[in-house]
Amino acid sequence: MKNIIILLLIINFGVTLIQGLNDDGRKSYIVYMGDISQGIERLAVVKHHHSLLAEAIGDESIARVAKIHSYGKSFNGFAARLLPHEASRLSEKRNVVSVFPNKMRKLLTTRSWDYLGMPEDLRQRNNQTESSIILGLLDTGIYIDAPSFSDEGYGPPPSKWKGTCEKGLNFTGCNRKVIGARYYNLGPDIGMDPTPVDTDGHGTHTSSTAAGRSVNGASLFGVAEGTARGGVPNSRIAMYKVCGNFGCSDMSLLAGFDDAIADGVDIISISIGGPTKNFMDDVVAIGSFHAMKKGILTVCAGGNEGPDEGSISNVAPWVLTVGATNVDREFRTVVELGNGMKLQGMSINTFSPKKTMYPLISAASAFNGTESPFTNVSMCDAGTLSESKVKGKIVLCLGLSSADWTVRSSHGAGTIIALDELQDMASTTLLPASFVSAEDGHLIGDYINTTKSPQATIYKTVTLKTTKAPVVASFSSRGPQLLARNILKPDISAPGMDILAAYSKLVSITNENLDNRFSYFNIISGTSMACPHVAGAAAYVKTFHPDWSPAAIKSALMTTAKPVNGNGTENPLDSGSGLINPVAAVHPGLIYDLSGNDYIRYLCREGYNGTTLSLIQGLHKKVHYNCSKVKPGQGADGLNYPSLHVQLPTSDTKISKVFHRSVTHVGYGPAVYKATVTSPRGLAIKVIPDVLTFTKPHQKQSFKVLVQGTITDDTPYTLSAFLEWNDSKYRVRSPVVIYRSIV
Ligand SMILES: *[C@@H]1O[C@H](CO)[C@@H](O)[C@H](O)[C@H]1NC(C)=O
Ligand SMILES: *[C@@H]1O[C@H](CO)[C@@H](O)[C@H](O)[C@H]1NC(C)=O
Ligand SMILES: *[C@@H]1O[C@H](CO)[C@@H](O)[C@H](O)[C@H]1NC(C)=O
Ligand SMILES: *[C@@H]1O[C@H](CO)[C@@H](O)[C@H](O)[C@H]1NC(C)=O
Ligand SMILES: *[C@@H]1O[C@H](CO)[C@@H](O)[C@H](O)[C@H]1NC(C)=O
Ligand SMILES: *[C@@H]1O[C@H](CO)[C@@H](O)[C@H](O)[C@H]1NC(C)=O
Ligand SMILES: *[C@@H]1O[C@H](CO)[C@@H](O)[C@H](O)[C@H]1NC(C)=O
Ligand SMILES: *[C@@H]1O[C@H](CO)[C@@H](O)[C@H](O)[C@H]1NC(C)=O
Ligand SMILES: *[C@@H]1O[C@H](CO)[C@@H](O)[C@H](O)[C@H]1NC(C)=O
Repeated sequence: MKNIIILLLIINFGVTLIQGLNDDGRKSYIVYMGDISQGIERLAVVKHHHSLLAEAIGDESIARVAKIHSYGKSFNGFAARLLPHEASRLSEKRNVVSVFPNKMRKLLTTRSWDYLGMPEDLRQRNNQTESSIILGLLDTGIYIDAPSFSDEGYGPPPSKWKGTCEKGLNFTGCNRKVIGARYYNLGPDIGMDPTPVDTDGHGTHTSSTAAGRSVNGASLFGVAEGTARGGVPNSRIAMYKVCGNFGCSDMSLLAGFDDAIADGVDIISISIGGPTKNFMDDVVAIGSFHAMKKGILTVCAGGNEGPDEGSISNVAPWVLTVGATNVDREFRTVVELGNGMKLQGMSINTFSPKKTMYPLISAASAFNGTESPFTNVSMCDAGTLSESKVKGKIVLCLGLSSADWTVRSSHGAGTIIALDELQDMASTTLLPASFVSAEDGHLIGDYINTTKSPQATIYKTVTLKTTKAPVVASFSSRGPQLLARNILKPDISAPGMDILAAYSKLVSITNENLDNRFSYFNIISGTSMACPHVAGAAAYVKTFHPDWSPAAIKSALMTTAKPVNGNGTENPLDSGSGLINPVAAVHPGLIYDLSGNDYIRYLCREGYNGTTLSLIQGLHKKVHYNCSKVKPGQGADGLNYPSLHVQLPTSDTKISKVFHRSVTHVGYGPAVYKATVTSPRGLAIKVIPDVLTFTKPHQKQSFKVLVQGTITDDTPYTLSAFLEWNDSKYRVRSPVVIYRSIV
């Protein structure tokens, strides 16, 4: 949590800076112009952008200075500094899809792959094909010196690779593992040095989670020791650095997409937060649409705004949106008191105690006399503790705040933080620390009050197995989504809590300057960590089915996912279709496929403008989509999606919806599938027909799902069921979620 909070501060700072710099009243905008015709010369594209811009601005020389970047390898558009009336003039042009201001976005062991059923010695691997798969990551850069990226034993890059390797400060070149690296310092000031090197750690962590090679004896100073590796250890990595110290700019992200698609990557992974806005004004939706058209699946983190409902982001239907779960491992840090009592807290404490016992005090007794309406000494807020009282002691603090930082600044020996609600995620701290429950905090407080010279020590963290897995992480963003309301998001879940993976040695493990611990590995949490697990799994599936569409790979991962309930009730608005099961996804039995045209028809029905959609699809002048000719039908959601979802207004008293679906048989020989549905009380679900017979592979069959029910006072807001097609060998599972929205 602490990492997330710090990041927010940095980003706000970045935004302020940018606004300050725009003293001529111009702001950065992206002008998106849809698909790009094949074979157009770069020079012609750039010239066209320039003439459009000059026309809108009315001055050739200002236009030249105002242009920031021309896209045009994989789609058409440019970025420029514009005045509002120039932006609106451009948006009226016939060949312009949208014009929107550039925004900043935030970044949202490998036990995890074992947990997902992919042990290190997994026999079912296509090594040869795997080494020709390229994962493209849009992130904070990469620290290529980490052992996870050593290229020993790797052959030359696959021949389809068309990317390049940019060099820069502390980055002397690529290798056969990390075959591409670029950086995009677009934007007034995103705090990016001219180098693809990772000075944050985030991009190094995500890259190695997806495709890092196997490294034995990996750990964070002895914590979580084991073998670290990615999902496709033989595959290649291409890094597109789009984030600087102040965040990630839209203009850079779009440039990363433009290159990644043209360079020949197979899967794109993005662990960066997204806004909730019209898909035509959202660079992740735009970039991933063009990637999809070229057969590239984009996998995105769903955000760290949980557990609030409706917080999910990166929700375009052609994106695979990922939520985070735990794994069956927890980090426990024992606190021992002078009276021999031992209490178990949670944290990632890499320090071993140097002395058996340290003096222990409560924060209140170390008050330095300065309190403001914004600080609370019991919580160890910054500036409340007296250094002379804290020095060399362990301090008991109540509540989540900057306690670790405050006690460290006052030269304390350690921190015990008592929380009303224990976090599910452990964090690294500057000092020995343990987060304990409120009850344990009370016990410790009592011990302090009733003992003459209270003492304590905090042990190094140990890992324990837990049976409460998989459960959705509290921070993981939840559905329902607010844009394409009848598409269930998140799509899927993967481990994102306390994940050990490679890190950059150019930054301390807490990303704090006060810290001098640097490591090739670090343990961090976020949907950022879940996303590359799914990207790795998608790459793995692709090694067996190189010809599958992005939607087919997505469907295979979704319909084979395992329930996420940790012994409770499964809620697809939290976990989507469930926890990825990569090995099962290689043989999904049936797939729900979708093409670019299917998405276009869907967007038509959602009310997007047909003229614009023609530009996106690359149907320039010749044909125009006439959305009023697209049949309104196609059921409740209008898309052959692997999950089924509708949102109803709360005023509705009846549920009566039909979903149209078609599945492709991707198993062997003939097959007969039977449908089973588990319905909650108040919902009647019928599948017509409920038996599908395939005489040979690649056959398609259609069916309808009728969902009916009456809403009463005690009908819950979320009604979820599961549809399963079963042919004795394969089980093809889809959540069916009816959500009664409050708005
Ligand atoms: C694939 O490569 C791994 C090492 O990367 C090796 O351990 C494994 O035996 C290989 N499998 C096959 C089927 O060649
Ligand atoms: C380059 O490496 C040096 C030494 O580790 C470090 O001090 C510096 O900040 C790095 N610069 C960049 C841009 O990575
Ligand atoms: C308490 O600590 C803060 C921050 O270190 C400092 O600004 C303040 O002067 C201190 N107050 C006293 C009374 O020492
Ligand atoms: C300070 O924090 C403690 C512990 O969280 C809480 O009980 C107390 O009410 C807070 N005091 C103020 C003035 O907010
Ligand atoms: C310890 O004593 C302080 C001061 O008298 C009091 O505020 C606090 O509630 C006591 N803590 C416990 C756990 O009894
Ligand atoms: C959860 O289920 C597992 C496996 O069925 C069981 O071993 C464990 O005790 C259960 N945990 C709880 C907290 O009920
Ligand atoms: C779509 O947008 C174009 C260009 O802005 C406009 O001329 C046209 O009338 C719009 N079509 C519809 C159906 O709204
Ligand atoms: C689109 O189709 C509708 C219905 O067929 C027709 O009335 C309308 O003129 C068409 N619009 C265009 C721009 O072709
Ligand atoms: C799957 O289908 C087979 C054969 O049709 C049946 O025996 C089995 O019970 C089904 N399993 C489930 C979980 O429905």
